[in-house]
Amino acid sequence: MTPVPSTDDFRAAVLAGLSRRRRAIPCRWLYDEIGSALFEVICTLPEYYLTRAETALLERVGPDLAELAGPGRVVVDLGAGSMSKTRLLLSALTRPAALVPVDIARRPLLTHARRLAEEFPALTVEPLNADFTRPLTLPPTVSGPVLGFFPGSTIGNLGRCEAMRLLRGLRRLGGPLLVGVDLVKDPAVLEAAYDDRAGVTAAFTGNLLARLVRELDAEIDRRAFTHRARWNPRRSRIEIHLVCRRATELRVAGRRFAFGRGSAIHVEDCHKYSPEAFRRLATRAGWTPVASWIDHGYSLHLLAPSGTSPL
Ligand code: AVJ
Repeated sequence: MTPVPSTDDFRAAVLAGLSRRRRAIPCRWLYDEIGSALFEVICTLPEYYLTRAETALLERVGPDLAELAGPGRVVVDLGAGSMSKTRLLLSALTRPAALVPVDIARRPLLTHARRLAEEFPALTVEPLNADFTRPLTLPPTVSGPVLGFFPGSTIGNLGRCEAMRLLRGLRRLGGPLLVGVDLVKDPAVLEAAYDDRAGVTAAFTGNLLARLVRELDAEIDRRAFTHRARWNPRRSRIEIHLVCRRATELRVAGRRFAFGRGSAIHVEDCHKYSPEAFRRLATRAGWTPVASWIDHGYSLHLLAPSGTSPL
């Protein structure tokens, strides 16, 4: 598979996911241009505290970060999105040398990268349209000490093993990593954050079905499916499903998939950690926690590759 997923990759992922006993489509497929735009709206919702918490934290710890990271960093932003947090990080750091924003959605990536480059004229900006769960090759035009930036609690989308594997792989970036991690809290707060009253999160999830129609010519009764977000305490995660409220059939790529009432397609998990549990995971993945900052039920962790000098 190429670093940038194609329609063939999407079709293959959908067919594989729907053929499983527990139907599931990986959450990376939520992020096309429309999904990316809907996610930006989610970040502004009253129930979705994550973005506000992380933004406040970044503003507060900027000076600490600048001191720890030192000047001239090449910031590699994993899942850059609209880059609003990237701006905060870049403003906090001392003379950052370059930014490599990585995102799976090409058009939004290029648009936001261009805007950011205008705001930071001294900065080299080299967008990389890629799936950051695959090995990344940094553009040859950037050089300097790397600082990986993995905000938004995106790490929570991965299961424990996948998260370990990704963190291990990110050691290849060759520098420290700043990770945003949402913390375990009142399930009612968590469930509201993933099932907002305005229905934006439901639209975000439903966009996956719309993509099936737009890109794979699927035949499907989209109204037969509803969004469900539930806290699973045993696995410490929000589980998001598209649940079928009446029996229906989905046709895609010459195949038919029957759905009984109450059956579901799993589309996303959002794991929540305690600060200790996250540091343990990072340590097992070959990182040394250098600093953690916590506020409003959210955490930022600065990690250094183990076995090297601190930063
Ligand atoms: C982008 C993965 C951090 O898990 O909170 C938000 C995605 N899904 N609402 C999250 C998401 C539904 C979000 N991340």
